[in-house]
Amino acid sequence: MGQIWRAYGRLLSVWVLVALCGSLVPERLRAAEPDKPVVWVLATGGTIAGQGESQVASAYKPGTLRVETLLNAIPEIAEVAEVRAEQFAQIASQDMDVATWLRLAKRINALLQEPQVAGVVVTHGTDTQEETAYFLNLTVKSEKPVVMASAMRPPSALGADGARNLYQAIVCAGSAQAVGQGVMIVMDDKIIGADDATKVSTLEAGAFQDPDFGPLGLIYNGRPIFSRHSLKRHTAQSEFDVSELDSLPRVEVVSSYAGATALFIHAAVQAGARGIVIAGVGNGNMSAEMLNAAASAREQGVAIVRSSRIMRGPTTQWNEVDDDALGFVASWYANPYRARILLMLALTQTEDYREIQRMFRQY
Ligand code: DGL
Repeated sequence: MGQIWRAYGRLLSVWVLVALCGSLVPERLRAAEPDKPVVWVLATGGTIAGQGESQVASAYKPGTLRVETLLNAIPEIAEVAEVRAEQFAQIASQDMDVATWLRLAKRINALLQEPQVAGVVVTHGTDTQEETAYFLNLTVKSEKPVVMASAMRPPSALGADGARNLYQAIVCAGSAQAVGQGVMIVMDDKIIGADDATKVSTLEAGAFQDPDFGPLGLIYNGRPIFSRHSLKRHTAQSEFDVSELDSLPRVEVVSSYAGATALFIHAAVQAGARGIVIAGVGNGNMSAEMLNAAASAREQGVAIVRSSRIMRGPTTQWNEVDDDALGFVASWYANPYRARILLMLALTQTEDYREIQRMFRQY
């Protein structure tokens, strides 16, 4: 019995010694809690920052609440990221423009150059979110994640979706798995790549899809789970550099439809457009009158890109229109609004339609 007590006494004294030593180690040298990723949130307005009269009112004013208010709604984010925030703009995204895009790309590139910054989230209205996402996909010069967060219902509404989307976007932006994925839209638990993201519903909470290729992945259990990667060139692999640019060449979109005339092609040329994107019917087709006007514009040095109003499928070369004979470009998977963005950037580099066609195959 005495041996047992002596062994117990020795064990107890060892335990006390270990406990004392531990308490002598200075706080700063103890195994630090793993550093949380630093994620910047740049807020630009939209419904995610909207304010309605009541929880059940359908009317609301977008771009009302400041970014601090949006972040106060998700205190749990402090457990997964060190969030820094800036009210970059405060607009409904139908008022987004090229000047703001250029400022935003430069601000994001400056932030991502800071070694301690893991990623950036941009809160944005949904109406032009896919355009901003694609513009940033071509102009951000880093592999670090850039994630768009938006909402279809304002924070004041029953079933508001913005806080969830913002939380998930910050989680994604701070995640190592999101590095190199290009710019992403996180909405309704889905991760949508900027190269084909499309708003497909005016009202549904899950308003964004990738009509051709599906989501890149999903956010589940507090982390991104990727199921595929984009094969498109983007971000660090992009050849476009806007660091010295304060404007972009003017490019207009002109729709074709039954009975469409040359009216808006002539107007675009007279307004000084350097490029025209045809939002064509079918595989980028247009009325004969439009085709003749587009060919004439091309002869005057205006770049012509054929795209389509159809949501899925590419606008291809070697179809009904002889692009090589006319010096036209086929947009492939760029819908008319992404085609406009790519053509604006392409025209900062070249006016050769064959070079521009190469870009439309790659981005
Ligand atoms: N005005 C729209 C915008 O700012 C509201 C739509 C939204 O953000 O969901 O894009």
